[in-house]
Amino acid sequence: CHVVVLAGGMSHERDVSIRSGRRVAESLRTCGAQVTVRDVDAQLLPFLSEHRPDVVWPLLHGAGGEDGSLRDVLDLLGLCYVGTGPHASRSTWNKAIAKRVAGQAGLSTPDHVTLPQSLFRDLGARAVLAGVVERLGFPLIVKPNEGGSALGVSWVADAAALPRAMVECFAYGDVALIERAVTGTEIGVSVIDDGSGPRALPAVEVTTDGPYDYDARYNPGRTEYFAPARLSNELASRAAEAAITAHTSLGLRHVSRTDMIIDSDGVPQFLEVNVVPGTTETSLLPQAIRASGRSLADVYGSLVNAALT
Ligand code: DAL
Ligand code: MG
Repeated sequence: CHVVVLAGGMSHERDVSIRSGRRVAESLRTCGAQVTVRDVDAQLLPFLSEHRPDVVWPLLHGAGGEDGSLRDVLDLLGLCYVGTGPHASRSTWNKAIAKRVAGQAGLSTPDHVTLPQSLFRDLGARAVLAGVVERLGFPLIVKPNEGGSALGVSWVADAAALPRAMVECFAYGDVALIERAVTGTEIGVSVIDDGSGPRALPAVEVTTDGPYDYDARYNPGRTEYFAPARLSNELASRAAEAAITAHTSLGLRHVSRTDMIIDSDGVPQFLEVNVVPGTTETSLLPQAIRASGRSLADVYGSLVNAALT
């Protein structure tokens, strides 16, 4: 079986994608697949048309990879691929839409406001932000409504820190999502569906001294991971149910990872879902797979088979 892993791309998460792609390719080779790792550039269409791989695994994170546009191209070419289709990718990539859908499906999600950068130019930043602060209070999280790997994300304790957080955020996207900060146990729950229905893998818990930012995510030793998470059976199954609800209600396929915080009342607070969860050495999906007792090769191979059928 010939698999083309697409990794790299033009997004801010290019480096992460290259690492993710390398890892998945290594695992697939150990189960006998013929794997080509390829970046995305102007020659991609002719390359895919000529080689017609059995399966494409688009492992691009961020814009282009997770917003549905690359999947539109794969659909146009009539190729089988691992992961979610274009429409559901697009809704999930937009955190505000994902939060709304998850909320309609019964999940709790921290209160939030979205602000396009253009609003700032028209009304004046001070008045706009004052309204948000009045509604949400501090502490707040400011993040790009469309983005990943915590790039452009700030943890904001007070009014003095807010303008800088907005500037950081708008460096990565045109719309800011300002969310009430929730404290609790931070977890990611991956869901795998290789043909027999969506199943949650063990939750992976992250703890850091500071924020779980880009450096903490990708530099080994900066974050402590617990796989499985240190949750009671009841909380673990609540988290698993929440991740499956998010996966199903957003119409996702094959694989996803839902990031949540279990708050002090034991309620999973939905933050977001990733349609292309990282598969780097420090990412949560591979840790969850190992915690489930399966090998990476086994699970990644089963996803390729699911894409084929
Ligand atoms: N956006 C990164 C790759 C993740 O969710 O793992
Ligand atoms: Mg993300």
